[in-house]
Amino acid sequence: MNKQVTLYSSIPETELERLREYFDVTVFNKIDDNNFQEFVDSLSNADGIIGSGLIMPDELLNKAPNLKAISTISVGFDQFGFDYLSNRNIALMHTPGVLNETVADTVILLALGAARRAVELSNMVKQGQWNKSLTSDLFGVDLHHKTMGIVGMGRIGYTVAKRAHMGFGMDICYYNRSANPEAESDFAAKRLPLDELLKTSDFVVVLVPLTPETEKMFGKEQFESMKSSAIFVNAARGKVVDEKALIDALNSKTILAAGLDVFEVEPLSPSSPLNQLDNAFLLPHIGSATAETRHSMVVCAVDNLIAALQGDYSKNCANSNRLK
Ligand code: 8YV
Repeated sequence: MNKQVTLYSSIPETELERLREYFDVTVFNKIDDNNFQEFVDSLSNADGIIGSGLIMPDELLNKAPNLKAISTISVGFDQFGFDYLSNRNIALMHTPGVLNETVADTVILLALGAARRAVELSNMVKQGQWNKSLTSDLFGVDLHHKTMGIVGMGRIGYTVAKRAHMGFGMDICYYNRSANPEAESDFAAKRLPLDELLKTSDFVVVLVPLTPETEKMFGKEQFESMKSSAIFVNAARGKVVDEKALIDALNSKTILAAGLDVFEVEPLSPSSPLNQLDNAFLLPHIGSATAETRHSMVVCAVDNLIAALQGDYSKNCANSNRLK
């Protein structure tokens, strides 16, 4: 009998066909209140699941007694209980690599958008309020030749540093659990303790994964350590930041501005005070959201599931060292 797979996102037909060459696939294009029970029922005999965007608590996955592999169409895997899956010997497959360049582009967009007040000034034009040449109260600040502090110097951090250093002549410093020798030799990146990075950086870019250790890593104290001219960029996960403290810091001009792609709760509530702040440049979690990269992520996730359900955890398996 073929292995059973539950798909819980819409993917291109060619990739669905590829899954069907190997597995019996139960297809949900998205999960909502109407089909949630059907989705849960499909878990009861699933060997594998594949999709993105759904938080899957341990209690939900208890309903999947045969599960051997999860293939998430994302690099982040904070939507799953890492220890729970590892203890159950379930492979957690993800899509690092294919999205580095696109997410790095998004980071530069967030940094420049906040620094040059792109949305605020674009809205001024669209609302017919551009009636004289720009006065100094509407000037932005430069990105080029400033200092960027990257918190989380992994694959994406390295790709951001490449753009910032080679393209914009920026000095790079970083905070990371381990040293990144390539970033140090290729971009003269300097590894610093977090408090020093916060004090010296003009742009603080957050790229750490969300874990119990990084949750609310940025709060009042961290914002107060930054320069009053600093721009804070978050393209990681909203929960890495105490959002209330960030709102206070933006309101009180403790820091100059923020460029945010991620939020504590997504989608961001229309009533969030962030929506009222001119110095908050906001995007709807578009980090990897280009047609090309999202397609590559699906191809990668399908490859990952095919490999994992054949017992091959050699590539893109986040918990390979925990599997028996
Ligand atoms: C995903 C992301 O698109 O890969 C990640 O971890 O944050 C995004 O690139 C998102 O998880 C899809 O829902």
